Amino acid sequence: MLKIEKLKARLRETGEEILKGVDIEVGKGKIVAIMGPNGSGKSTLVNVIMGNEKFEVISGKIEFDGQDITDLPTHERAKKGIYVSFQHPPEVDGVRLASFIPMVLQKYHPDDDTPIPKLRKMMGETFKRVGLDESFLKRHINVGFSGGEKKRAEVAQLYIIKPKLAILDEIDSGLDVDALKAISSMITELRNSGIGFLLITHYPRLLHHLDVDEVKVMVDGRIVKSGGIDLALEIEDKGYEAVGV
Ligand SMILES: Nc1ncnc2c1ncn2[C@@H]1O[C@H](COP(=O)(O)OP(=O)(O)OP(=O)(O)O)[C@@H](O)[C@H]1O
Ligand SMILES: [Mg+2]
Repeated sequence: MLKIEKLKARLRETGEEILKGVDIEVGKGKIVAIMGPNGSGKSTLVNVIMGNEKFEVISGKIEFDGQDITDLPTHERAKKGIYVSFQHPPEVDGVRLASFIPMVLQKYHPDDDTPIPKLRKMMGETFKRVGLDESFLKRHINVGFSGGEKKRAEVAQLYIIKPKLAILDEIDSGLDVDALKAISSMITELRNSGIGFLLITHYPRLLHHLDVDEVKVMVDGRIVKSGGIDLALEIEDKGYEAVGV
């Protein structure tokens, strides 16, 4: 599904090279986790996959479902089924979630003709499942949400939209234990239906609840180590230096 090859990218404004040759593959129904020290380029990778104009691809390739998407505009990438939850979900004043979500759903699934009342009911149920009262749907996107509420709302949206690939940047940050469990069970359900996941995290606590296929470590713009959940545990226990990265 997602195949990234030898990807190098720089910050347009300064020319600084941040991604220095990244290779990653995420297949259908697979969960790949990326860990790595602060500032190693994880969120930059997310932005580059989504085609953020702030960054420029120097060389390498991003393929999705066998198609080269390296130069596609962001909305085209979304249309292909790539969903991103950013580390800092933006606040959008003036747009209610209740009208935003159906609009996004149409972008991902133009043929979806779920009647509005049914969709509303489903949105309410999904919000409840992540521990958010239905009244959150009436609120403007992320405005005044707590850190954990933003992350819960992101997963609810992902669950409703059902993309082909979900890229979640620190979705576990700020989540309480109950939210972590609820969200893990939703991610598992989605992966079992064939959705692929690229999860960026600093802690193995989310990975404990999931059957992760691969853990990759990014340091200074490169993937320097790959392994399973054991690698995540070793990093938590001993730190990056001790595991030889
Ligand atoms: N818009 C920008 N302006 C200046 N520097 C930037 C910008 N975006 C990214 N960088 C730099 O690129 C490097 C990688 O940042 P990035 O956000 O990708 O790290 P990260 O691995 O996600 O870190 P964290 O774990 O702290 O979220 C950092 O040194 C950061 O300061
Ligand atoms: Mg980051």
